[in-house]
Amino acid sequence: MNSVGRGLSRLATRGLRRYLVGPGQRWRFEPPDPGWTPPPVARTSLYLHVPFCRNCCPYCPYTKVRYDEALIEPYTRAALAEVDQWADNIGPAEIDSVYVGGGTPTQALASVVRVLDRVRRRFRLTGDVSMETSPPDINTETVQRLRAANVSLVSLGVQSFQVKHLAAIGRHYQPVVAERALSLLAESGFASVNADIMFALPGQTPEDMTADLARAAELGANQLTTYPLFTFPYTAVGEYLQLKAVRMPDLGARRRQYRAISDWCRAHGFERVSVWGFKRGGAPRYSSVTRDGYIGIGPGAGSHLPDGFALNTFDLSAWIKALDSGVSPIALRMPFAAHMGGWWWLYWRFYDTRIPLDALDWALGEDAGKARRWLHAIERAGMAYSNGRTFELTEPGAFWLHLLQNLFALSYVNTLWTAARRRPWPQAVAI
Ligand SMILES: C[S@@+](CC[C@H](N)C(=O)[O-])C[C@H]1O[C@@H](n2cnc3c(N)ncnc32)[C@H](O)[C@@H]1O
Repeated sequence: MNSVGRGLSRLATRGLRRYLVGPGQRWRFEPPDPGWTPPPVARTSLYLHVPFCRNCCPYCPYTKVRYDEALIEPYTRAALAEVDQWADNIGPAEIDSVYVGGGTPTQALASVVRVLDRVRRRFRLTGDVSMETSPPDINTETVQRLRAANVSLVSLGVQSFQVKHLAAIGRHYQPVVAERALSLLAESGFASVNADIMFALPGQTPEDMTADLARAAELGANQLTTYPLFTFPYTAVGEYLQLKAVRMPDLGARRRQYRAISDWCRAHGFERVSVWGFKRGGAPRYSSVTRDGYIGIGPGAGSHLPDGFALNTFDLSAWIKALDSGVSPIALRMPFAAHMGGWWWLYWRFYDTRIPLDALDWALGEDAGKARRWLHAIERAGMAYSNGRTFELTEPGAFWLHLLQNLFALSYVNTLWTAARRRPWPQAVAI
């Protein structure tokens, strides 16, 4: 999209969000007031961010640093202190799911185990532990350690099984490494094994894509998550594509790939569980960001609290230094006004492609009527259907929503993360 298109879509999304959430919501992240502390929470989820990678992929927008043995102990000490800080602030909450993401969490598995032990000690952990991992990290020993740490849902960042696409995204190993890793995970008794596969890569055809899905399913993945390549301007790929004018797939090509993915999944017994994810059999769903509330631990980790969003400093040293001095690592906060929490809930139900209609009043209170009018309009446009209890996106609905979420990621997330990367403690960021 060119800059005029970007400007117009920004104007449209700003108008829409103001109309939906109301003029009382300020779309600004600011340093927290000195007197602010997180409110008590009875039940929530927990996100642990592990920022280490051996190979930093040029397209990856997440907070990460190159693996360095010397950083592991300070990281662990700070993460343990942050668990304690959360427990002191929100109380001994029930933690109904844990998600360990990165970076590559398996690069610092001993740290993760210590942090999980501390979580068990300070909170009441009742849910499953899900963890991301990377093909070169998986061997029998890692699998045993993951099982010993009670990790029950795993996700492997396959991205592609094809040499040309792996090379294009800066992954310097042979496809057989990912194949061995996936089959080892699949035969090791995890409740769910997800494979991340990328699409909308330059030069990728629908056939390339479905061949990757088929290979992942054949090797035993019971969930497939297909991400279109986001090109955040600040990642190396973003710069590369701009500088060298590599042609990304246009809307038509993207639509054909999206349809090929849905058709392939439906024909092979995988049901849709989100705009990008498909699951086969009775395995629990592997998912990260769709929870109703969570506390975040680690540099760049976000938290979704009853009173708003909070975002930790992205800078690993600043994060360690804050926690070593007993100070909060939260750099930015966006308080919720009106029914913002409910609209956020609805946004993620759209991501699930299913909305339980009887929860609308509970989530949105007096805004539920406005939400229902929008849902009817979406249904009339052929983007969804409803049986009175559940509202479900149709295939075209899921496609347009995936584009919208792509736009959201590129616009809001990019604005916020760019500011958060520039300085450890940024001033206000309007999104
Ligand atoms: C935090 S990454 C973890 C990757 C893991 N460390 C690995 O090496 O495979 C989680 C997933 O986000 C997806 N992802 C990362 N950057 C992306 C981008 N620019 N566009 C689309 N998906 C992306 C990838 O599919 C990746 O597997």
